[in-house]
Amino acid sequence: MNATVIANQQFRLAARPVGLPKPTDWRQTSEPVQEPRDGEILVKALYLSLDPAMRGWMNEGKSYIKPVGIGEVMRAGGIGKVVASKSPLFAVGDYVSGVLGVQQFWTGAANDASAALAKIDPAVAPLPKWLNALGMPGMTAYFGLLEVGQPKPGQTVVVSGAAGAVGQTVGQVAKHKGCRVVGIAGGKDKCDFVVNELGFDACIDYKSGSLREELKTKCPQGVDVYFDNVGGEILDTVLTRINLKARIIICGAISQYNNTTPVKGPANYLSLLVNRARMEGIVVFDYADRYPLAIAEMAKWMRDGTFKSREDIVQGLEKFPEALLMLFEGKNFGKLILQVSGE
Ligand SMILES: NC(=O)c1ccc[n+]([C@@H]2O[C@H](COP(=O)([O-])OP(=O)(O)OC[C@H]3O[C@@H](n4cnc5c(N)ncnc54)[C@H](OP(=O)(O)O)[C@@H]3O)[C@@H](O)[C@H]2O)c1
Repeated sequence: MNATVIANQQFRLAARPVGLPKPTDWRQTSEPVQEPRDGEILVKALYLSLDPAMRGWMNEGKSYIKPVGIGEVMRAGGIGKVVASKSPLFAVGDYVSGVLGVQQFWTGAANDASAALAKIDPAVAPLPKWLNALGMPGMTAYFGLLEVGQPKPGQTVVVSGAAGAVGQTVGQVAKHKGCRVVGIAGGKDKCDFVVNELGFDACIDYKSGSLREELKTKCPQGVDVYFDNVGGEILDTVLTRINLKARIIICGAISQYNNTTPVKGPANYLSLLVNRARMEGIVVFDYADRYPLAIAEMAKWMRDGTFKSREDIVQGLEKFPEALLMLFEGKNFGKLILQVSGE
């Protein structure tokens, strides 16, 4: 490939947002694709993962990963195809997952730790699934539920953001482990999907009716494990229904990510004391050495038809700013992905 004549369109962080990201928080740039040097590869991005965590990476301050700098290409996971290689680690034609950034092409060292490139096999599952159940959200769900949540057969697992990327997998892994699973999601369509398509036992539409009352009727035995993707009032309400020795997995708090006032903590935290329960955070990267185990198990369930996943794919790199907002408005239905290019 004669890469020098090809332009690489990119989105760079222009300003740190206050509240929801605005179009002016981004700067669209174009630069020539860089040819790989010794030890490097050139990857053409096919699909980019749009994640709630991106909002946190735009903020200054200490976190589990360093913030994206002003002027830098926005960080994003993605799936791409190797189109030029000067590394023995990857060959032209290989499909890879890694931190490719919000851009059309990525060039860099094949063993760059921050890019975390790994070969993926499209024969195991279609490429978008590698950003969903077989990718970062799936790993979060699998290890967060099983390692932190420690669910036992017959126990009740509740998961918020149930129709989203992480939530879909949490519920299905919990079903595979013999639990009763209740989702919390926004709207009837999402609730119908997780019950009728994914096999959850019940789902509560938190946008209609009373979450507190519905938790009583849909979790008559109380809540043993709560996998929290949203924080805020939903977390607070679930805390009123937990059982003795319950485990609460703090995976995310999307309801709080665009706050311009301090994050709302749970007022009902003394329920942890009364119930000798615990809350524990999870960061998916801590389990990276065991991803292959989770991928193998979920790929097997996919093959035997007992595990499904849904993606919501938006076309075109130029849609990035508006597509990202879908996550915070509940407009995505399934794992949100930006298709940057066809093969
Ligand atoms: N700790 C980790 O390592 C890790 C890794 C990956 C993801 N996460 C976290 O996991 C959570 C889910 O991520 P995901 O990728 O699976 O996203 P997702 O669920 O696919 O998409 C976001 C969903 O959040 C819900 N939502 C948005 N605003 C809300 C609000 N104010 N209150 C309640 N729900 C709201 C919406 O669903 P409804 O229409 O149902 O409201 C929306 O569709 C996020 O908090 C994310 O930061 C953590």
